[in-house]
Amino acid sequence: MGFVDYEVKDKIAIITINREKALNALNSQVLDDLSAVLDGVDTDVVRALILTGAGEKSFVAGADIGEMSTLSKAEGSAFAKKGNDLFRRIETFPIPVIAAINGFALGGGCEISMSCDFRICAESAVFGQPEVGLGITPGFGGTQRLARLVGPGMAKQLIYTAKNIKADEALRIGLVNKVVPLEELLPTAEKLANQIAANAPIAVRACKKAINEGLELDMDKAVALEAEIFGTCFETEDQREGMANFLRKKDDPAKVKVVDFKNK
Ligand code: CAA
Repeated sequence: MGFVDYEVKDKIAIITINREKALNALNSQVLDDLSAVLDGVDTDVVRALILTGAGEKSFVAGADIGEMSTLSKAEGSAFAKKGNDLFRRIETFPIPVIAAINGFALGGGCEISMSCDFRICAESAVFGQPEVGLGITPGFGGTQRLARLVGPGMAKQLIYTAKNIKADEALRIGLVNKVVPLEELLPTAEKLANQIAANAPIAVRACKKAINEGLELDMDKAVALEAEIFGTCFETEDQREGMANFLRKKDDPAKVKVVDFKNK
């Protein structure tokens, strides 16, 4: 589809932003294409997504500067809302989304990666929020998610100076979980996605919901939410099978098996 490729590999799928000539910059069409691809994800089958960029140079080099250059105030707000609605959809997508960052992750590129559940990157990756150098603020959630991820002091430094950082610094400040050579990026992402996909899918989704929604609450409400979500797991076949498997193992180690979770 247009600027976004979608490939299902058994229980995981890879979404690739493919506008390589513009370093995968996000124009309105790319945002619409990404939204349409998300519409088509069959979450009964796919248990984890990987989001990456086409080519070896750039993950996403930001929102499209050409498209933004002539926007009015109202159009600027509408463009930001369009990106924010999509990124919020990624953030709250029922299954985990791993960002596999294969190069530049600037502006909207850093922002879309932060809407994913976690980030791994190539050694060549470069992160930054260059917006103030263009006379604008981050507009796709950067002021909010960067501050939440790396703390307000570091976020303010990165955003106010508009200075890019390399992969090792991104790892040090907690923006990414892991740095690997470029050729190992997708295999590493796929391995992580498959590890997730091997676990009980309803429980994984419930964890995503509990972490995301719990972070917005005070601790009393957050643990109450966790308790409620925990309870819902006991209505699933996967809970019964997962625990029965453990108990069988205790009886007789020969009975150990890999549970084929049913997503039920
Ligand atoms: N928007 C539109 N086009 C872009 C782009 C962007 N964000 N980033 C790169 N491109 C285009 C370039 O215009 C160029 O196109 P042409 O070949 O047609 O000239 C092509 O991609 C290749 O880019 P460069 O020639 O610039 O490649 P380079 O290797 O010299 O530099 C780079 C790479 C440092 C990433 C540089 O392209 C760059 O600085 N890009 C802009 C990064 C940026 O400022 N991003 C933030 C945008 S603002 C934003 O995202 C706001 C928000 O929060 C919503």
